[in-house]
Amino acid sequence: MTILDSLLVLCRPGFEADCAAELTQRTAERGMGGYARARQDAGWLTWHTPGQDAGVLCSGSSGRRGLIFPRTAWPVVQAFSDLPPADRVTPLVAMARPLGPFSAVRLEYPDTNEGRGLQRFIKGFRQAFERALKQQGLLQEVPDESSGRILHLFFEDSGRGVMGCADAGQISLWENGIPRLRLPAVAPSRSALKLEEAWLTLMTPAERAHWLRAGRSGVDLGAAPGGWTWQLARHGVRVTAVDHGKLASHLLSDYPVTHVSGDAFTWRAPRTLDWLVCDVVDKPSRTLALMEKWLVNGWANVAVFNLKLPMKQRHATVDELLQRLEGALASRNTGHSVRAAQLYHDREEITVAVVR
Ligand SMILES: C[S@@+](CC[C@H](N)C(=O)[O-])C[C@H]1O[C@@H](n2cnc3c(N)ncnc32)[C@H](O)[C@@H]1O
Repeated sequence: MTILDSLLVLCRPGFEADCAAELTQRTAERGMGGYARARQDAGWLTWHTPGQDAGVLCSGSSGRRGLIFPRTAWPVVQAFSDLPPADRVTPLVAMARPLGPFSAVRLEYPDTNEGRGLQRFIKGFRQAFERALKQQGLLQEVPDESSGRILHLFFEDSGRGVMGCADAGQISLWENGIPRLRLPAVAPSRSALKLEEAWLTLMTPAERAHWLRAGRSGVDLGAAPGGWTWQLARHGVRVTAVDHGKLASHLLSDYPVTHVSGDAFTWRAPRTLDWLVCDVVDKPSRTLALMEKWLVNGWANVAVFNLKLPMKQRHATVDELLQRLEGALASRNTGHSVRAAQLYHDREEITVAVVR
């Protein structure tokens, strides 16, 4: 069988170098070598591991030992170019045939103005392409979405791109690595989506069911106006929201929420809490030290927090901070695991989940 020795990687535009730095490290950890082909602000890159299986780098793509900066990454089978505008479907179906059958198709493009300009083309192409795949028995329903094989097409423009495939459990949950989450009108802020995406990306369904339910308790440090507090409280978690700023008033009247006008860095819970969430805008080392203190002292079971990133050396900063946290937790045998990702809803930051 041919070795697939390159990955197509999608990321937030501007974070291509961080992806490459992370992949350099992960590749070296496996005793392999690799290099990137990337363009600043393109929102994508390719990662090459000549003669070596690149797919091993994207297995378990959510979590600390998965990849942080890539939104999604999958092994490339073949590039295509100069598709005839009159019929792009036929050559691509022929190219896909030896790889199938598939349980789903993902049509991906860069998250840039230029890339989003392809949406109309992709909408029309998807219909025709999926119809042709079904007619040839190459696209089949599977009972469980987490199983099966996914066919990926990445379009640089409407005539050129790469094709690849991956097992459903191996790659991001979403096309383009972008979740389609709906913000209910009662949510106090758009940040609410960030916490929801963090749960879906960084925690398993079993962990969510265990920790996210009535009877649990939590604190939200830097809570105002209350998007994260609302996410926890709507699952029945009793939340103390710490912030000198104001919370959306319906949080206090309609949900199990208490507001404390205090300082995130000095407030202490009277007893162990299930949840610690923190979205304060501060130096990443300061936020991490606060989280570390809570977790090594056993003051919370699960933490989700943001690390706002400096403009330079973002991967190196993240790696150093997470290693520090993992070291501190391991030396105390707290039984926590550390996971991190730059979520779609993260800008110049990453989100970390620490789960017991
Ligand atoms: C990005 S906002 C939080 C948004 C919130 N997660 C949401 O979903 O609506 C950051 C908040 O942290 C608060 N903050 C910053 N430093 C703080 C501190 N030392 N103590 C308490 N709150 C702080 C700010 O007042 C601000 O409301």
